[in-house]
Amino acid sequence: MVNYKDLGLVNTREMFAKAVDGGYAIPAFNFNNLEQLQAIVQAASETNSPVILQVSSGARKYANQTLLRYLAQGAVEYAKELGCKNPQIALHLDHGDTFELCKSCIEMGFSSVMIDGSHLPYEENVALTKKVVEYAHQFDVTVEGELGVLAGVEDDVVAEHHTYTRPEEVVDFVTKTGVDSLAISIGTSHGANKFTPEQCTRNEDGLLVPPPLRFDILEEIEKRIPGFPIVLHGSSSVPQDKVATINKYGGQLKDAIGIPEDQLRHAAGSAVCKINIDSDGRLAMTAAVREVFAKSPAEFDPRKYLGPARDSLKELYKHKIENVLGSNNKI
Ligand code: G3H
Ligand code: 13P
Ligand code: ZN
Repeated sequence: MVNYKDLGLVNTREMFAKAVDGGYAIPAFNFNNLEQLQAIVQAASETNSPVILQVSSGARKYANQTLLRYLAQGAVEYAKELGCKNPQIALHLDHGDTFELCKSCIEMGFSSVMIDGSHLPYEENVALTKKVVEYAHQFDVTVEGELGVLAGVEDDVVAEHHTYTRPEEVVDFVTKTGVDSLAISIGTSHGANKFTPEQCTRNEDGLLVPPPLRFDILEEIEKRIPGFPIVLHGSSSVPQDKVATINKYGGQLKDAIGIPEDQLRHAAGSAVCKINIDSDGRLAMTAAVREVFAKSPAEFDPRKYLGPARDSLKELYKHKIENVLGSNNKI
């Protein structure tokens, strides 16, 4: 059993409480490799921001769970080296789907886990989440649960109201399970194609404008569980300049549409205290790598394309921290 505290990591309890009080959100950036981790730690250290290193089960399979844990431990030391005296870094399992996976991550040094029972019938979601919470809390590991199902791009986000979180369930869910934070569904979704063009309107410049998030549902939830930490998944904004660069240099991304940053800024001012961003990082890295390959086709040193990808990622993360989530200077 590795305790995350021995690795210099923190759980999310205190960072969430401060974020809810302070009207900002903590960034949860997914990582699978060294360059992504370097970009996250550099961005968080340079902006003096708490940060959540987020690991999906796919990331664990890709990178090896032991390596990821040592990378996270290294992240704390690296942040100190970069001048951050008291790094606030959590290592979090993203979308855990079984008790066994959550338990294994906790035993490997994770400071926080998500148990995603959102696809289960309500009572099964409650039972599974409660079981994970009871185990995790013995080790002071925090737990994120989820209510409501995030729409996929194939779903009709606008019409399928039943996929949104039902505010009338939240009190019962957080009371029965004891979770530390709650992921909700208010119109965000995973990936780079969050809305079909048909679901959007056009502004005066002819650009697609996605349907707004359901802030009415968020407000209803906040009324019922005031100050309780809320999490937004699927919160990439899909920067159109990155999409254009990818397509200019041979990519084929079609109808890539994300959540406008002003809506995320608005959400960060509420009880939303954790915002998950993965796809935007993928786009930034891919755009940078494609540009190097197109402009310097003779290049074959991975540092020559992964380096620019890492630098672009770091700039993206700093932008998110400073201009969208507002978590800069919060350590
Ligand atoms: O919510 C999913 C995250 O973007 C992680 O994606 O499962 O492909 O690692 P992944
Ligand atoms: P995006 O695909 O919008 O980046 O969402 C990531 C996420 O929610 C990870 O859990
Ligand atoms: Zn997610």
